Amino acid sequence: MRKRVVAVRRLHAEHLKQLERLFHVDYFPSLGEDNVEKYYDALAQAHGLIGGKLSVTPGLLDGAPNLEVVATISVGYDNFPVDEMSRRGILLCNTPDVLTETTADTGFALIMATARRVPELDRFVREGQWQTHVDEPQFGRDVHGKTLGMVGMGRIGAAVARRGALGFGMPILYSNASPKPALDAELGARHCSFEELLASADVVCVTVPLTDSTRHLIGSDAFRQMKRSAIFVNIARGPVVDEAAMIVALQEGEIAGAGLDVFEQEPLPSTSPLLALPQVVVLPHIGSATHETRAAMAQLAVDNLAMALQGELPPCAVNPGAASFIPAQEKM
Ligand code: NAP
Ligand code: GLV
Repeated sequence: MRKRVVAVRRLHAEHLKQLERLFHVDYFPSLGEDNVEKYYDALAQAHGLIGGKLSVTPGLLDGAPNLEVVATISVGYDNFPVDEMSRRGILLCNTPDVLTETTADTGFALIMATARRVPELDRFVREGQWQTHVDEPQFGRDVHGKTLGMVGMGRIGAAVARRGALGFGMPILYSNASPKPALDAELGARHCSFEELLASADVVCVTVPLTDSTRHLIGSDAFRQMKRSAIFVNIARGPVVDEAAMIVALQEGEIAGAGLDVFEQEPLPSTSPLLALPQVVVLPHIGSATHETRAAMAQLAVDNLAMALQGELPPCAVNPGAASFIPAQEKM
């Protein structure tokens, strides 16, 4: 009997076909009140679940007793109860690497847009305010040659740092769980304390995952330690930053500006005080959102799911020891 897969949110036809060649697929291009009952009915029989922005809770897992693998179309997996999934023998797979360069591009776009006030000055032109030559009220801040402080120097952090060091001549400081000697050698980067980074960086860019130890890592104390001229960029997860504290820091001029792709509440409510601050650049969580990269992420997630359901351990397993359905010798 074919294994059953539930696929959630928009997948390209070629990815669906690849799944349908191997499995029985229940496809939900969108989820809402009108089809949620059908979704739960499908999960009750499913061996695999694939999609982006999945909401997986212990309650949902209770209703999916046959589930063997969940393939998220994302690298971050802070929204999954990983320990609970492992306890139940359910494998979780993510999509690292294929989105690294695109997400770093987004990070650098935010650095540039915030420092040079690109959206604000675009509005200035569109609104007919460009009546004479621009002067100090419209000036921005240099990016080239300034110190870039990376909070998190993993795959994406390193890719942002590489852009800064090699493209913009920026000295790189980073605070990270472990030092990265290869990056020190490649980029002249320097591992330092969180405090030194906050006090010394002209641009502070956050790329750590959201975990218990990084939730609200950047709060009022951290903003107070940053330079008043600092540009702050978050492309990681909203809750790594205490958003209320960031708003106060921006309102009080403790930092010069912020470029944000992620927020504590997404979508960002239209009442957010951030939207009233011209020195803030906001994006709708589009770090990896290009045609090429989203297709590559979906392909990797399909491959992860297909491998696991066919009894092989995929390379992108978050909890490889959990896969009770995969022969023990293949586990890491
Ligand atoms: P990664 O390669 O695992 O890098 C994470 C880095 O953070 C690692 O170097 C890790 O240190 C470090 N780290 C973890 N906990 C830390 C702590 N408590 N203090 C200091 N450093 C810590 O992950 P990635 O692929 O770069 O992705 C990073 C995050 O970016 C994802 O988890 C996701 O939340 C976010 N993201 C956002 C978007 C977007 O659309 N905006 C897109 C993709 C990813 P070690 O190297 O020592 O382990
Ligand atoms: C996007 O935010 C991801 O984690 O892939």
